[in-house]
Parts: sequence; structure tokens; C-alpha cells
Amino acid sequence: MTTPPSESRNEAPRTVPDRLLAGSLRRHLDTRWLGGKIHHLESVDSTNLWARTLARQGAVHGTVVSAETQTSGRGRLGRGWVSPPHRNLYLSVVLRPALPPESVSQISLVAGVAAVDAVREWCEAWIKWPNDVLVGGRKVAGILAEVEASGAKPVVVVGIGVNVNSTADDFPEELREKAGSLRLALGERLDRARVAGRLLTHLERWYDRLAAEGFAPVAAAWRERSRLIGRAIRVREPAGEIEGEVVDLDTDGSLRLRLTSGEEHRVVSGDVTVVDGYA
Ligand code: BTN
Repeated sequence: MTTPPSESRNEAPRTVPDRLLAGSLRRHLDTRWLGGKIHHLESVDSTNLWARTLARQGAVHGTVVSAETQTSGRGRLGRGWVSPPHRNLYLSVVLRPALPPESVSQISLVAGVAAVDAVREWCEAWIKWPNDVLVGGRKVAGILAEVEASGAKPVVVVGIGVNVNSTADDFPEELREKAGSLRLALGERLDRARVAGRLLTHLERWYDRLAAEGFAPVAAAWRERSRLIGRAIRVREPAGEIEGEVVDLDTDGSLRLRLTSGEEHRVVSGDVTVVDGYA
């Protein structure tokens, strides 16, 4: 693929930064409890860290923290998250689950399904295990769910990063082949408040479904959106690389693999590559 231009040819260069105002985000929300309280920051180390601090101070279920930029955006497996200012969505949601303890790990899959549904309002998108959102084979969104266990009941902070308006120049060289954005896929800049509103609306819907009906409908939605069952994958795990065929998603969010030896193996963390290429 050729490297896309840093600003789309149809767009006038911006002189005023595009700000994500809490008021405009609220106008796009179609939720009952999610986003009842929104903290929008110009710059923060990580919205997840900020949300965890708020959670320790008693932030209510559904509180949202968002930022224009993160100076230490955090990704899975101890990685960073590239967070250029005024381009994308960096959001964290404080959840106080009235759910059984095993549901906590399922919340991050709920967020993955919600993120795909939101992105699909603009273009075709798929989930890569556990919950990366891919558009045209490039990662446009990632999720980092963390448990804040300082009080009597665990609080879950779900952090979601969506590359809405990033250009190729926003990514470091080593990520340019793998990372993408909605703008790069569509050739036009999107209204971040609209994308955020749709994302949080889908998140509330899927979270409520998990609470009301359990994991089965979430798992079914995840399977449909990942097209991974039965495919041969390679996994870079902390302990080394393995290959096998995906049997299913387990109730704790791990992947059940059948290795070439016939043995079953559960993947709980690592990086997945589909042997014949991802959707
Ligand atoms: C991944 O590695 O795929 C997870 C990326 C999660 C990034 C988001 S951006 C908002 C929130 N704050 C963070 O520091 N990380 C998450």
C-alpha cells in the first residue's frame, strides 16, 4: 500500500485545533447511565490512570474520562499507545459491576464488540483477539481493561483508544504498516464527538446485555465479528511462539487452541496472527 498523504487532498489545512467538547459528546450520547459524568482533559498521562484515581475517590458507575492527548498512553502487554493531540479518541470508563467476579474479564470483550459496532457505522471492521479493532487489516482501536481493587468491591476501568483522524505521519515508522485510522480508511476527517457518542452508546447496550443475559450473547457477537473460529493462528506468548487451530472463545475470554499435537492449549495473553492473513 502507498503511504497516504498526511492531510487528505480534499481537506483544507486546519488552523484551529478540533476540540472534543463534553457538550458535543453528550449530544451524541443515547445512553441511560454511561457518561452521566464526563471529565474532558486537554492533556493527561493516561485516561486510565486518571479514571482509576477518580474511581478510588468514589466516581460513579459510568463516569467517563477523555483527553485530547495522553503523554503516557498505555496499551496491552506493557506497551504504549500513540496519542497525538486533537486527532483521536482516548476514553476511559469507570464501571462498578453488579456482576459475578468471572464477568469482570468479560467486560473487555464487551468493549471490543461495542467498538467494532461503532466503527461499523462508518466502515467494515473486525475484531482481532482479544479486542483489537481492525479496518482493512490495520489496527484502528484498542482496549485496555484494568481492575482497581482498592475498595471493598472491584472497579473496572475500560480504556478505549480509537484512531479517528490520525494521519500516517502520526505513527512512528515501525507502526505504519500495522496501524490505521478511520480517516485513512475513508479519506475524510470524522467528527470525533459523533464517533465517541456512538462508541459509548454501543458500550452501554452491550454492558447491559451482559448484565441481563450473561456472556452467551456477547460471546456469540464476538465470534461473528472475529471470524476466528476454525482458523489457523500463530500466537506470540510471553513463553514463546505456538501455532494451532482456534476451537473457541472461552467464558473467561481466553482462546482455546488445538495444537498440531492434538493437545488443547488456552491463550490468555499474547499477540495473534492469522496464518493465512486477517480479515
Ligand atoms: C492496546 O494495546 O490495544 C490497548 C490500547 C488502549 C489505549 C487506550 S487510550 C485510552 C486509555 N488510556 C490509556 O492509557 N490506554 C487506553
